[in-house]
Amino acid sequence: MQKIIVAIDGFASTGKSSLAKRLAKSLNYTYIDTGAMYRAITYFYLQQFNTNFINKKELISSLANIKIHFEDNLLGQKTFLNNVNISEEIRQNHVNSEVSNIAKIKEVRTFLVKQQQVLGKDKGIIMDGRDIGTVVFPNAECKFFLTATPQVRAKRRYLEQLKKDSSESYESVLANINKRDRIDRSRYTSPLTKAEDAYEIDVTELSLGEVYEIIWSYVSRKLDNRVS
Ligand code: CDP
Repeated sequence: MQKIIVAIDGFASTGKSSLAKRLAKSLNYTYIDTGAMYRAITYFYLQQFNTNFINKKELISSLANIKIHFEDNLLGQKTFLNNVNISEEIRQNHVNSEVSNIAKIKEVRTFLVKQQQVLGKDKGIIMDGRDIGTVVFPNAECKFFLTATPQVRAKRRYLEQLKKDSSESYESVLANINKRDRIDRSRYTSPLTKAEDAYEIDVTELSLGEVYEIIWSYVSRKLDNRVS
């Protein structure tokens, strides 16, 4: 069967990555977490320059020294920066705080979008992010755009982090989500926006399982139509 590209875009903490991983498993496709790539560059910058003041010139000239790759193991997908596993580090608060400021830099986006397009060139890919259906793969066969209220998203992220022993308060998680939404939506280069032909799902009142059912039936229909 011919393989397709599925783009899952949307706001922070709407369940994009859990849904994308599950879909990739069902279809035996590759899952790519593009947020992890922006997080990896942010982590690199904060490590290298040890400052929250982003010097664009410095960052752009160091892009050539950044190599990101993914590996799958029994515990899931791991993100590597210059061959070092940084999967845990890129979820830390200092990365959360700065990632959207780094992701709005045009040169950073061009650098990563090229790599994302190479990763998806043979199709059979589920990619989640903010600009997959609009910029990375505007011809993707299936596009989803997930939304939910900031409060519900913050609550989900807060509970997720509690399980990992995080001491971050709900208010602080909510503030970070609101800040990232604002920067992601208002940036000049490929802002977070729904592709015209994307299927928008408001997940505020839905469980992850219910959202998955909606996505699965839409993708199955697309795949059936291609066969017949
Ligand atoms: O998992 P969560 O929704 O918190 O965020 P993420 O997918 O890990 O993305 C982190 C940040 O990377 C976002 O807030 C965006 O600023 C940026 N990002 C982006 O600009 N474009 C993408 N395709 C993916 C992420």
